[in-house]
Amino acid sequence: MGRFFVVGGAGFIGSHMVDRLVARGPVTVYDNLSVGKRAFIEAPLARGAARLVEGDVLDLDRLVEAMAGHDVVVHLSANPEARWGLERTRLDLEQGTIATYNVLEAMRRTGAKRLVFSSSGTVYGDTSEERREADLGNLPISLYGASKLAGEALISAFVECFGLSATIFRFGNVVGPRGTHGAALDFLKKLRDRKTELEVLGDGRQSKPYLHVSDCADGMLFGLDHAPEGLGIYNLAPPDQTSVARIAEMCVRASPYPDATIRFTGGDRGWPGDVPRSRMSPEKLAGLGFRVRHTSDEAVRMAIEALALEVFPKE
Ligand SMILES: NC(=O)c1ccc[n+]([C@@H]2O[C@H](COP(=O)([O-])OP(=O)(O)OC[C@H]3O[C@@H](n4cnc5c(N)ncnc54)[C@H](O)[C@@H]3O)[C@@H](O)[C@H]2O)c1
Repeated sequence: MGRFFVVGGAGFIGSHMVDRLVARGPVTVYDNLSVGKRAFIEAPLARGAARLVEGDVLDLDRLVEAMAGHDVVVHLSANPEARWGLERTRLDLEQGTIATYNVLEAMRRTGAKRLVFSSSGTVYGDTSEERREADLGNLPISLYGASKLAGEALISAFVECFGLSATIFRFGNVVGPRGTHGAALDFLKKLRDRKTELEVLGDGRQSKPYLHVSDCADGMLFGLDHAPEGLGIYNLAPPDQTSVARIAEMCVRASPYPDATIRFTGGDRGWPGDVPRSRMSPEKLAGLGFRVRHTSDEAVRMAIEALALEVFPKE
């Protein structure tokens, strides 16, 4: 199928994608290791199936040099924590919008023609209605979500003006082994640090679709094989949702401290820009033939089991 270039490939989702892509062809991971870890891709690196170029996506010359000779680009780097945008308002502009521009410009300069992009359900903002891809009734409410939507707009323009093909996936909240952030990992780490009480930001009623990382990587691969030429935008999420309170309860039960109490700080969201409600229709991708295997609750349960072993390793 070609030579693959994975920006952010040493991260959580990226490393699972690399595990799958190496079966199809040579893979170059381009990552500044700010969040990602060499250990996540050690197995394919050791076999010589993948190679790692340590570089920053904001360094356009280095990106162009490293991307030369590749056919398919998977772009997964971003600001890892949406709430950091509240403190540093340029962060998502740089790590989201300009980073995506750099990836597109590097593709234009090197002649790489096929892009897979990791967008997010945050482009739909706060919504209790199930959203389809063509429906942006509610715009983003965080700088992170705004940068994802800006990235999508840039991709559309590059597809039209420079003949790229791009598949954009709007993920639900992705969970699973090697997770680098998110509510479940936060809760488990908080329980490790304070064994008697788990503090949860908000009232616990925030509810979102949680996607297991295996479904996320399988869905992107499916899109690579089956999405039509040109621009395609697909939600990649289960149809159901899990509440933050339920995640907190599952984390307490999975930890060595099942008697810890849960304290909610109150309010309908964890922080300004945190989406309290998200509903995403999986039907468009299902129409191509891909169905997410795990429900949201299943994905969360599986992820917590795996992450609990990482946070509380058995002696
Ligand atoms: N995890 C989720 O719940 C979720 C949901 C929706 C969308 N997404 C998107 O999916 C993508 C992957 O997310 P993830 O959860 O694997 O995050 P992650 O932070 O684990 O992975 C991102 C990788 O990009 C690298 N990186 C960051 N900035 C870089 C830079 N300037 N130059 C080079 N490399 C850089 C990091 O080191 C990391 O390895 C991101 O774009 C994220 O916004 C994730």
